[in-house]
Amino acid sequence: AMATITLEENNSLPAAKELKIRDCTPKYANQRVAVHAWIHHVRNQKKIVFLELRDGTGYLQCVLAGDLVHPSIVENLKREATIRIVGTLLLPPADKKCPGGVELQADYWQLVGSSSPDLEGIINQESNIDQMFDQRHILLRGTRASSIMKLRSICLHAFRQHFFENGYFEVTPPTLVNTFCEGGSELFTLDYFGSPAYLTQSSQLYLETMIPVVGDAFCIAQSYRAEKARTRRHLSEFTHLEAECPFITYEQLQDRIEFLICDVVEKIFAIDGDLLRSINPNAKVPKRPFMRMNYVDAIKYCNDNKIMKKNEDGTESDFQYGDDIPEAQERKMNDQIGEPIFLCRFPADMKAFYMARCPENRDLTESLDLLMPGVGEIVGGSMRISDYQELMNAYKKEGLDPSQYYWFTDQRKYGTTPHGGYGLGVERFLTWVLGEEHIRNVCTYPRYTGRCHP
Ligand code: 4AD
Repeated sequence: AMATITLEENNSLPAAKELKIRDCTPKYANQRVAVHAWIHHVRNQKKIVFLELRDGTGYLQCVLAGDLVHPSIVENLKREATIRIVGTLLLPPADKKCPGGVELQADYWQLVGSSSPDLEGIINQESNIDQMFDQRHILLRGTRASSIMKLRSICLHAFRQHFFENGYFEVTPPTLVNTFCEGGSELFTLDYFGSPAYLTQSSQLYLETMIPVVGDAFCIAQSYRAEKARTRRHLSEFTHLEAECPFITYEQLQDRIEFLICDVVEKIFAIDGDLLRSINPNAKVPKRPFMRMNYVDAIKYCNDNKIMKKNEDGTESDFQYGDDIPEAQERKMNDQIGEPIFLCRFPADMKAFYMARCPENRDLTESLDLLMPGVGEIVGGSMRISDYQELMNAYKKEGLDPSQYYWFTDQRKYGTTPHGGYGLGVERFLTWVLGEEHIRNVCTYPRYTGRCHP
């Protein structure tokens, strides 16, 4: 039988300074430090073992030799095991690249939590997407996924920074609601103590009621859409960033959205440009102003550029005024043009009941979608009906019972204002800025048709 050994920390060495990996830099070269971390990667060369550690703040290379890798204990150094490791930070040889610019020459380690050997079998080359998302909790620990999760956090921080710097207040509206905002077909219904209720599709209506309370308002809340479509940018639960602004014009609404997008990308670069470039080497702040194209001109663009409408019988034809331009064709146009586009002034019949009409043509709305190359629509917004009677007529046309909406209507009764706002899908934004192929990759645990676990 193999002799087993028990490692002991050498107390005659200088006391170790406990550090997070982010602080393991040349500043502490030749000093003794201790780190708590997960084993991200192991390379076992028998007499010497190289570990890459991870603690959320960064990655650290470690070298272990001698008794530290004795055969009776080396098996504990498994991928994803947690350890406390102590040693001296050294500047690596010039030809060796180490994250943080140092490597740890270990003199002691102890196991905090072991990692089961079946880890290596959980996902393999043959695993399909569903099997991978069943193991999302494990795959999130990977280098790329974890960078994306950090960028997601940075992005939310940058959005909040933008709004706070510009005098907005953040509000937290309810997501259990009894009214709808974007049409009834995509509602998740639930039993609320014996009465029907819904998971919200958008916090807009509540946000509108907050502008007399705090002025410019924003919220970051979960929205839900029971969309059957399983596409690369539809989720059934998404993080919805919405803003609402009193006393602005339609043009100012567009300017504000453009400012938001560009400022937030700039802020992400400022917070951690290296991390952003590690995921998307092509990331850049878009040029302002964005192209502004009216719906009628988009129809004309499609017809002029052989982007065809697909009919139900399989034939193709030109788009007519009043047709919805489906996502595929919209994306084709957007990719041909190759820059952000505000699609503006949609016909009222195609859009939500609350949208204000254009003064120059009452068939059109002061609405907009912001399209981004590669992803498509990331923002939807509009000016809102501010006239009481006009809103009452809009309920009627939509078949809505105004009594349910009294609190929303009252805003037009007690000090109405021209106002407008928008909703931005945070995952759509991330898919665009990170250059990701699929929206599910920017979620922690994505929810889409057929997936409500883990
Ligand atoms: O265009 P939408 O439906 O607009 C609204 O909900 C408005 N009430 C927002 C407002 O004016 N306050 O949705 C807004 C954005 C879309 O542009 C898209 O980015 C995102 O929400 N979105 C989705 N993201 C992922 N999966 C889905 N199923 C989404 N549906 C909408």
